[in-house]
Amino acid sequence: MKNFINLKDIPAKDLRKILIDAKKRKNKRKKISTLDTDKDKPLKGKLLIQMYEKQSSRTRLSFYIAISQLGASSITVKESELHLGKGGESLADTAKILSTYGDGFLLRTNSDKKISDFSKNLTIPIVNLLSPSSHPCQVLSDVFTVEEIMKKPISKLNICWIGDCNNVLNSLIAASIKFDFSLNIGCPNNYSPPKFVIDWVKKNKKTINIFNDPKQAAKNADVVFSDKVVSLNDKGNKEKKIRDFKNYKINSELMKVTRPQSIFLHCLPRGNEVSEDVFLGNKSKVWQQALNRVHVQKSILLYCFGKLR
Ligand code: CP
Ligand code: NVA
Repeated sequence: MKNFINLKDIPAKDLRKILIDAKKRKNKRKKISTLDTDKDKPLKGKLLIQMYEKQSSRTRLSFYIAISQLGASSITVKESELHLGKGGESLADTAKILSTYGDGFLLRTNSDKKISDFSKNLTIPIVNLLSPSSHPCQVLSDVFTVEEIMKKPISKLNICWIGDCNNVLNSLIAASIKFDFSLNIGCPNNYSPPKFVIDWVKKNKKTINIFNDPKQAAKNADVVFSDKVVSLNDKGNKEKKIRDFKNYKINSELMKVTRPQSIFLHCLPRGNEVSEDVFLGNKSKVWQQALNRVHVQKSILLYCFGKLR
């Protein structure tokens, strides 16, 4: 049994195995209906319990489909309806109960500590569905999408992030180390990645390039990533943050400095950080990106259950 909490803690070879498995499974699903199971039904009979402390459209639905395709079932519980939320039952007792009834626990939370506390008390795998510090399922799936579209290992591509230094970027930075790709970040001065991330990059003898000029960051990029300026866990002055990012909008002018075959990716939901013409234009692959969540998450679950082929 393995957890899937942060990319930085998962061996690179395991992350690669997940992507190889996802590709094989995706290739086998042409012309199969959404909820038809994969032939081998590798998780038949298992119950996966999902819990969301914050909103989710894509993660919730893509995991529902992923779990169904693996032959397992899923139930979504709300913290406010559990004793954990209202009746004061301890996290340890809740974890024991989840482990008694369920085979895996999938959690989106406002607290990194909660994921870590659950992981210590569960006897079933836990998957991080987004926390303040990371969004590992999203980013591993994005690596898959990049390689699928560009038909090259991501290590041969120039990856660029324009936007806030948030949970998605933290996971992208972790991916840049695990998959060894070059990463340029374009963000205002006061919004650079946090110290714990920079320290980890240094410890791994890797560099990430941070630019305050978005055009410099995007120059010769093969892939431009972005995300909302204001994230779900942001508590600060949102108007000020949006003002601070006003020169970092991804528009067709910015995309002109990227490579001719470059693509644009965004995990969604979006705000004003990208212009309508780029978001809906030829370079944008955001719908393929969203769909691939299903395929990669299936293999993430199989990794957790020791069932990768
Ligand atoms: N990209 C993503 O995780 O979307 P949701 O918040 O809708 O799950
Ligand atoms: N950074 C965003 C990602 C949403 C999928 C957030 O945390 O709200």
